[in-house]
Amino acid sequence: PVSLSGRHFLRLLDFSTEEIEYLLKLSKNFKDMKRAGVPHRYLEGKNIVLLFQKTSTRTRCAFEVGAMDLGMGVTYLDPNSSQMGKKESIEDTARVLGRFYDGIEFRGFAQTDVEDLAANAGVPVWNGLTTEWHPTQMLADVLTMQENFNYDLKGRTVVFMADAANNVARSMMVVCAKLGMNFVACAPETNWPDADLVEECRAIAAENGCTVKLTADVTEGCTGADVIYTDVWVSMGEPDEVWAERIKNLEPYRVTKEVMALAKPEAIFLHCLPSFHDTNTTIGAQKAEQFGITEMEVSDEVFESKQSKVFDEAENRMHTIKAVMYATLS
Ligand code: CP
Ligand code: NVA
Repeated sequence: PVSLSGRHFLRLLDFSTEEIEYLLKLSKNFKDMKRAGVPHRYLEGKNIVLLFQKTSTRTRCAFEVGAMDLGMGVTYLDPNSSQMGKKESIEDTARVLGRFYDGIEFRGFAQTDVEDLAANAGVPVWNGLTTEWHPTQMLADVLTMQENFNYDLKGRTVVFMADAANNVARSMMVVCAKLGMNFVACAPETNWPDADLVEECRAIAAENGCTVKLTADVTEGCTGADVIYTDVWVSMGEPDEVWAERIKNLEPYRVTKEVMALAKPEAIFLHCLPSFHDTNTTIGAQKAEQFGITEMEVSDEVFESKQSKVFDEAENRMHTIKAVMYATLS
């Protein structure tokens, strides 16, 4: 039997296929319980703290609601309201918070920061996104795929479009390799995932009977796909100057209805969100005007289509994060 009690959740490379499948199963159970109105205050008396150096809607709220449903107390510390990183090191912060709390969530920049926190906290630390990884996102994405493909994902193909070098794409490549799904990075060579990680994932994929492919050709990449996935072209923490080059390089990889038509008829569209698809967002509108475009990484038409499962995916952040907290704290 799988036990994740006391474990950190920092990147999926540290977890076996069996452990990831266990977390997915647990997530489904929590979702069913929530839907049926069955109380699950299994962690009453425990408290957690959420440290955010970058902004968030889904991840923060998923941890808060998930913790409250489990009966826990929650403290949220925004990017400016603790001493961490300014007056106090991450190591010392970890040693203090570990004495107050039963678990710590961290969203920030360097992966080494969340690892430092984990090495010094003495309680489970969960990675809520770093520049390198976004592991909790993957559980929600895969749960959404399971729900749409009858809980049978082996041999399915996930295509990640556009910035395939970012935290979400790299994490998706890992989870696909671990779960027996083919992964395709469909992007210009400038935005392919780093070669070391590709090599590592190919070795994992070989053990699980699936493949990792990189291509700059949209038709080749998307034909016959089961899942078309994309994310913003510029991630949090990247300098404003990268926008011009990203738009130029990534525009051919926008997810449009022509792209969806290449995929299987039952294919779904996923996006971790937030999305700039709606150029009514402040940044979306500003960048669209500045660079003379009307759509960003995904067309409105695809985003609003029946194939788009992005809000199920967003909801699943909560059920899956609850599963991670429960598995590591119980
Ligand atoms: N997908 C995701 O992590 O969203 P937030 O930035 O809103 O947490
Ligand atoms: N790649 C995006 C994901 C946001 C959830 C970012 O890091 O900003």
